[in-house]
Amino acid sequence: MSSPMIRNNICLNAHPKGCAALVESWIARAKNAQPLLDLSGRTAWNPPPKAVLVLGGSTGYGLASRVVSGFGYRAATVCVSFEREPSDRKVGSPGWYDNAAFDRTAAREGVFAASLNLDAFADATRDAVVALAQGKGLEFDLVVYSLASPVRTDPKTGVMYRSAIKPIGAPYSGKHVDVFSGGFSVASAEPATAEEEAGAVKVMGGEDWSLWIDALAKGGVLARGARTVAFSYIGPEHSHAIYRNGTIGRAKEHLEATAKELDRKLAATGGRAWVSVNKALVTRASAVIPVIPLYVSTLYKVMKEKDVHEDCLDQALRLFKDRLAANPVPVDSAGRIRLDELEMRADVQAEVARRLEAVDASNVAALADLEGFKLDFLQAHGFAVPGVDYEGEPDPREI
Ligand SMILES: NC(=O)c1ccc[n+]([C@@H]2O[C@H](COP(=O)([O-])OP(=O)(O)OC[C@H]3O[C@@H](n4cnc5c(N)ncnc54)[C@H](O)[C@@H]3O)[C@@H](O)[C@H]2O)c1
Repeated sequence: MSSPMIRNNICLNAHPKGCAALVESWIARAKNAQPLLDLSGRTAWNPPPKAVLVLGGSTGYGLASRVVSGFGYRAATVCVSFEREPSDRKVGSPGWYDNAAFDRTAAREGVFAASLNLDAFADATRDAVVALAQGKGLEFDLVVYSLASPVRTDPKTGVMYRSAIKPIGAPYSGKHVDVFSGGFSVASAEPATAEEEAGAVKVMGGEDWSLWIDALAKGGVLARGARTVAFSYIGPEHSHAIYRNGTIGRAKEHLEATAKELDRKLAATGGRAWVSVNKALVTRASAVIPVIPLYVSTLYKVMKEKDVHEDCLDQALRLFKDRLAANPVPVDSAGRIRLDELEMRADVQAEVARRLEAVDASNVAALADLEGFKLDFLQAHGFAVPGVDYEGEPDPREI
């Protein structure tokens, strides 16, 4: 029996066939959504995207965007991600299997797909993507920037920067739940140093995004009118001290400022750049970030009860169909695309806040959706996926 190996809320293994099955289920959903994605005659974005570059396209929001591009629109997709390859005896990371499943299905269906397993922050990777696009005659009309990484080496200086999730200015403490044991604790974090704050901006801000757009334009592989989107998060007051007003929030502010710069730059050829503010979802790292698991699992419960819960693929479908395909693209007063309006709805947030106030170890199962959180977390590693046979140990190289 193959089962997840979870230590300190990190899942150390992945199930190849489970990862593939999850990707295939997203592909099926994107294909079924096709009539909804027919843009003909309706929008300024017509014809729809033909070639899409997804930076960080192996998992989470990047993968969902790639699935919608490749199988909703049948666009050629190039994905850059940094995943652990399997060996004969050891399984790789989930994104490695997700890419393999995506590429295999795309090949079967005659849709061009290439997945490069390279460090997206390196100039050599930009060169490789430009060379690939030139060789294949691809001009990207959409670039999705969905990298999430704890470290980045600056390609100009060779200095490696780290992105810590910390509050700024004052220490922070808040209720924390260990989703796997149900145990409650108070999580606390000391304020970031100036160096840590700058490090987060270097890693998760917009500098690298900008370098990508410049390199693609210089290499002649950015289509006229090309669009680019990067993902951000704001969230409720409850998480501001640790998130939006913390180191990651600083990085997101930088990303949003970069969107404005890129928007001005791309305007010369009719292109656009946006940040899209997305909903909080479970990803591979979610379980270890203080406070986030309790907020997300409470949010899941409330959104499911109100029948407005969405996963990454639902969000990506709405990003394309209701936002990018609309004319004009709807944005908030700061020029950002918003996909978090259901999460931020007043009734949803009031109920989440009420529950977070009341929650403790005795009532957590009733107030929060720990099971839903765990299920998404396990499925992101290829476990607990319906229809997958988990008997025996998987062959690391077979999906
Ligand atoms: N998960 C959420 O709740 C949430 C909500 C709103 C916005 N976002 C934002 O969406 C973006 C993507 O987050 P996610 O949750 O989908 O993350 P994820 O961990 O699922 O995906 C991260 C991707 O980045 C790739 N990556 C990391 N380092 C790399 C490197 N050096 N070179 C190449 N690829 C690399 C990974 O391979 C993976 O494809 C982030 O900007 C995040 O802040 C996430």
